[in-house]
Amino acid sequence: MALLEIEKAGSPVLKKNCEPVKKINGKLRSFLDDMAETMYKFDGIGLAAPQVGQAIRMVVIDIGDGKLLELINPEIIAREGACVDSEGCLSVPGIFGDVERSEKVTVEYTTRYGKRRKLEADALLARCVQHELDHLNGILFIDVAKSLRQETEES
Ligand code: CO
Repeated sequence: MALLEIEKAGSPVLKKNCEPVKKINGKLRSFLDDMAETMYKFDGIGLAAPQVGQAIRMVVIDIGDGKLLELINPEIIAREGACVDSEGCLSVPGIFGDVERSEKVTVEYTTRYGKRRKLEADALLARCVQHELDHLNGILFIDVAKSLRQETEES
């Protein structure tokens, strides 16, 4: 496994509409491993492939319950409710903002073994899924936040 470099806001790859993953092979699975390692190393709860330089539709998520989710070609197929809460992003260090998201989402995705699955998410997981999927469409949370603030790491 290897740590990957995180692209910061201003990097063109973060603005791309990412391409669907066409072929799932050992190389892709190894890249998923590297994405997870990188997310854990930097204390993130989610990481999208463009954040580590690859404009492909793939994200990893672990909201802290020890359950690693790997979503390949994810699509939100249902949404319910709305709520506003604070978000941050490894690509936008030190900035936080309030973002309105759906309260619950159902997402369809492909696993690392090529199986199509459905995931129902609410609360923090739903927020994280929506934040990460936005990355695949070139959208950062600072593009959609109602308000932004700068915070030091201590606060
Ligand atoms: Co992010």
